[in-house]
This record gives sequence, C-alpha cells and structure tokens, in this order.
Amino acid sequence: MSVKASVRALLEYNVPQEAPIKLNQNESPFDPPAELKAEILAALKAQAWNRYPSGDQEPLRRKIAEYTDFPSEGILTGCGSNELIQTLIQALCAAGDRVAVVNPGFSVYSRVATVLELDVNEIPLKKDFSFDVNRIAAAAADDKLVFLASPNNPTGTSLSPAEVEWLASRLKGTLVIDEAYYEFSQQSAQSLVSRSDRLLILRTFSKAWGLAGLRLGYLLGRPEIIPELRKAKLPFSLGLFPQLAGDILLNKVQWVQEAAQTIVAERERVFQALTSLPGIAPIPSDANFILFRTENLTAQQLFQRFREEGILLRCFDSPRLVDCLRVTVGRPEENEVFIKTLTSILRESGR
Ligand SMILES: Cc1ncc(COP(=O)(O)O)c(C=O)c1O
Repeated sequence: MSVKASVRALLEYNVPQEAPIKLNQNESPFDPPAELKAEILAALKAQAWNRYPSGDQEPLRRKIAEYTDFPSEGILTGCGSNELIQTLIQALCAAGDRVAVVNPGFSVYSRVATVLELDVNEIPLKKDFSFDVNRIAAAAADDKLVFLASPNNPTGTSLSPAEVEWLASRLKGTLVIDEAYYEFSQQSAQSLVSRSDRLLILRTFSKAWGLAGLRLGYLLGRPEIIPELRKAKLPFSLGLFPQLAGDILLNKVQWVQEAAQTIVAERERVFQALTSLPGIAPIPSDANFILFRTENLTAQQLFQRFREEGILLRCFDSPRLVDCLRVTVGRPEENEVFIKTLTSILRESGR
C-alpha cells in the first residue's frame, strides 16, 4: 500500500497507559461520582441506539452556551478537541499554506498538519518557557492558522487576554487559543471573539470535567463561521454517549469546579515541594500539571526510576525538553507518593 511519506515518517502516538499511579496524560484524577454515572447510563439506556445521534447537538450546545455565557450559534462540538483541531486545519488550510505552533507545545497541531502535507512553522518559546509574543507576531504574520495553547502543554505557561488581543491584531491568519486547561487557570480570551472573525477558542471536557474517556470538546467562534466549519467535520462523529454525558455533567458544574479547586491547591503544594528539592527546578504552571527540570539525573533516568516504582510521568523526545519531566497533578495521596518517591530517588542518587 502506498501510504504517504509524510505519514510514514511520523512516530505512532503511543503513551503508556497502565500504572498504579498515572500522572502522565493531564487527565483529571477524579472519575465522575457513581450516582452521576448511573444517571448518564440511565439516559443512554432510554435512547434509541439504532438511530443516528443528533447532528447539530442543539441541547448540548445550549447547555455549553449557558456554562460559557456564549451564544449557542457560536459553538461547535467535536469528538474531543483533537477532532476540532483536525476540522480547523481541514477547513482553513489548502496546499502550500503554513500552520504556526510553538515549541515546546502540544504535538497534535503539527501532527495533523503534517498528515495533510502542510508546512509547519515552529516558533520557540523563550528560555523560561514564556510566550515570545513579538517573535510570534513576526514569524507567523502570514501563516494561515496559528495554534497557541494557553495554558500551554507541556509548559503550563499562559498568554494574558491583552497579549492575545495584541497578537490577533497583528496576525493575518486565524488565531486559535486552545484553552484545554481553562478551568485551572480561569483566564480566557473568550470576550475577544465577538470582535474578530479570525479568533477562535478551543476547550475540552477531557481535563477538569473528567471525561477524557468519552471524547468531547468544543469551539467558540463568531456565529457566521461555525456552520462553515461544521461542513468540514464528519457527519455524526460525536456519538450519543459523550453528548448525553456532557449534557448531564453540565448540570453539575459545582462538582467540576470543586474538583478543579482541589487540583489547583494540590498543584501549588506539589510546586512548593518541588522547589525545595535539590537539583529540581519546576516551572510555575496555570494548568493541572507541572514541568520540571532535573539537574543531577537525566530525565530518562528519573522517568525509568519512577516507572519501577509504579508511577508514570511524561518525558519528551524534543531536544528542548531533554532535561525535563512533566507530572500531572493527581489526588492528594498520589501527589504525596510522587513527592516522597522523588525525594528518595534523589537521596539515593546523591550517595
Ligand atoms: C493543549 C491541549 N489541547 C487539546 C488536547 C486534547 O484534548 P481532547 O482530549 O479534547 O482531544 C490536549 C490534551 O492533552 C491538550 O493538552
């Protein structure tokens, strides 16, 4: 079979998924409570499975509109935000167009662009992993599509709404602010969308909402552009299960907010603990994970030692992250084990 060279050259998107303590995919450590799951399953059971699901997801979009305080006509739902990233690239880019991303950044943007044989413009973050807005404005001025995650994965660093506004005024292409971790940062560029038809906000239910397994994401944009973007999506890609689960979970916003608050408090506790450890330098984060530099052991050595202890962290191939690991904030007791394990690995390696 003649698979395209651009696809053959990619590595498979493989992330280890089994471990007693799993802190490697920025998921919520809190599974929705059993009574909530029962309610979702009862709603699913009451529906006809032999029929296609709602194509425009009107009830779900209305609920998201209430939660976000954004018009429902300006909302596009998708099978995880990953599907919406693909939809955007397919809808907006043609052969010869360039997609801009930052490095280090979330890999799916360039992955999809590469599969579609588009050029990718990788713009480095500053040394301290903050966004270099002047450099982005200059380097991406003519690019068709610019993806910036704020907070950024894997660094946890953010753009302020003022920086987003400034960038949007400089770029000619469409600027997508990926707010996958919005609930942990509470900072959004959403209010700018009504002023620009070239600014879009991407969000997900995979992080604070605890629904990574069901696949649900959404996009906020000016109402006139959403029907056009919808045309580039596969019909019925969003199944009945995530639609119903999202709809019901949106009645329990308080549960989600409390879970996010716990995670933010734990993030600060883990950050302080990391700061006090010799040879460990954490980067301040607005998300539910922390990237940290390791000075004495290599990131690979530390990753392997944690793996032997049953704890999965994330390490990276990127040259800029050779000395870095990312830890997702887990439940308090998991974070405790993480800190104790790191302390004892460092002590043991110092002997
Ligand atoms: C910045 C960012 N955007 C999008 C996603 C993908 O989210 P989803 O599960 O909604 O596809 C992730 C997942 O890690 C992410 O870090």
